[in-house]
Amino acid sequence: MRPRKIRNLKTRRENCTDLRIPYTLESFDFRTNDVHENFFDLDEIFGRSAPLVMEIGCGKGQFTCEYAKRNPDKNILAIECVPTVLVEACELVKRENITNIRFLEMKAEYLPLFMREKSVTEIYLNFSTPFPKSRQESHRLTSKGFLDIYKKLLCDDGFIAQKTDSQGFFEYSLESFSQNGFLLSEISLDLHNSDFEGNIVTEYEEKFVSQGLPIYRLVAKMK
Ligand SMILES: C[S@@+](CC[C@H](N)C(=O)[O-])C[C@H]1O[C@@H](n2cnc3c(N)ncnc32)[C@H](O)[C@@H]1O
Repeated sequence: MRPRKIRNLKTRRENCTDLRIPYTLESFDFRTNDVHENFFDLDEIFGRSAPLVMEIGCGKGQFTCEYAKRNPDKNILAIECVPTVLVEACELVKRENITNIRFLEMKAEYLPLFMREKSVTEIYLNFSTPFPKSRQESHRLTSKGFLDIYKKLLCDDGFIAQKTDSQGFFEYSLESFSQNGFLLSEISLDLHNSDFEGNIVTEYEEKFVSQGLPIYRLVAKMK
């Protein structure tokens, strides 16, 4: 488990205000689930118009930063719901002087309130929390509720790339994507012993690979 408390969180978050997109959930009525969208102006937020890539559950930002450096022509929106973790990702971006990343400190569940349909070209789900208990299914980032969100957000030729160390979660995801209108490709049951090139290793991936665990990967596109 990651520590939920870190020193000087308030000040450290304030120092990263320029990287975090502000929002309010006032536009969501929790009693009725009524949605009043309040879309972000991402061209203004990034200061340019460019293909938009999202990483959901970015953790401390290792993948996001490397991806941004390799793809300076893309805008990257990194989403993470734990503030103590997100602040470290923001600080990494600042240390590395990366300009094409912005952060949303938010649960991915709320994305449709703020993001326009067909606005995203790529979604990365890297080592998402597997939530193995069946009563936690709705929290899995590849459960039907989330796939419905991704379907709205993705542009027509957009794709989702998922990596995980969890065989059970991977099998669940294969089934969930297939049953919910996605076509699967690039399925790997052992990414690090495959011929896949250009892999960006995430913080969790580093840990699992050092333990000798296989890494599972897939790409999903809408039919
Ligand atoms: C196991 S960590 C992986 C971090 C990073 N992607 C990596 O590979 O090193 C999963 C992250 O997803 C975040 N997360 C889980 N559910 C989320 C949700 N519904 N919305 C946003 N972030 C979420 C967690 O807070 C956690 O930081």
